[in-house]
Amino acid sequence: MKELKLKRCRKCNALVKVLEDCNCKGCGIICCDEAMEEVKANSVDASFERHIPTYEKGGDNIHIKVDHVMEEDHYIEWILVKTEKENREIILKPKETPEMTVPYEKGALIYAYCNKHGLWKTVVE
Ligand SMILES: [Fe+2]
Repeated sequence: MKELKLKRCRKCNALVKVLEDCNCKGCGIICCDEAMEEVKANSVDASFERHIPTYEKGGDNIHIKVDHVMEEDHYIEWILVKTEKENREIILKPKETPEMTVPYEKGALIYAYCNKHGLWKTVVE
């Protein structure tokens, strides 16, 4: 399954979801006059347990949770579930609950994005 690809600008912190990246050598998506860097999942030195999305299977669905604070300055901004056919995403605000329910699909990729600690990913077994 094709992974979600995020790129961030080192200067202004702009963040983009890449549908199809540039394949030229020495080229890339430019922001603030330099190539944006790829954001890797599960790569920030922060609590794994507080960021990694978890899920429970119930019937034909899975219920996804992220055990993370939802404070004004530190929260999960979105949860995105990626399968071969579709992306399902919820956009979150502080004080909301970082949970969503989607149909079960083996191999689906669940991403959660923390405004301070970046991208986290779980694969559905
Ligand atoms: Fe965080």
